[in-house]
Amino acid sequence: MKIVIGSDHAGFDLKERCKEFIKDELKLKVEDIGVYDKSPSDYPDIGHRLARAMLSKEYDFGILICGTGIGMSMVANRHKGVRAALCHDIYTAKYSRLHNDANILVMGGRVIGDGIAFEMIRTFLETPFEGGRHKRRVEKIDIDKE
Ligand code: RB5
Repeated sequence: MKIVIGSDHAGFDLKERCKEFIKDELKLKVEDIGVYDKSPSDYPDIGHRLARAMLSKEYDFGILICGTGIGMSMVANRHKGVRAALCHDIYTAKYSRLHNDANILVMGGRVIGDGIAFEMIRTFLETPFEGGRHKRRVEKIDIDKE
């Protein structure tokens, strides 16, 4: 399994710690697409970059972190085929996979602590999509035009 991770400056510290957790604890490959320091950055730049990386099919899942997680989820969800879920607890992380087939986990670096972030990542990556009636609903998410 290959993971791609990105953040703005507000999510930088949590991103660094999540990277270590994914590598050392989960023993998975993770590619960091920035930012690489804490100087001020614009979350849409990284959000679009990571969404495009996900759609390239090079990665199984993405993780985005900004201050609240709100900006990153707004940006990523502009991309057809991306289902970015802003999660704050294990329940939402689990059901974002089971029912929504989320492909990007979004977190707020100024909102949650390391422990909950790590367990959300573990849950998100381990939980399969339930399919069935949820497949029909997920297929209705993307629209070509109004
Ligand atoms: C940066 O200050 C902050 O606005 C950004 O990280 C994010 O929370 C936006 O939604």
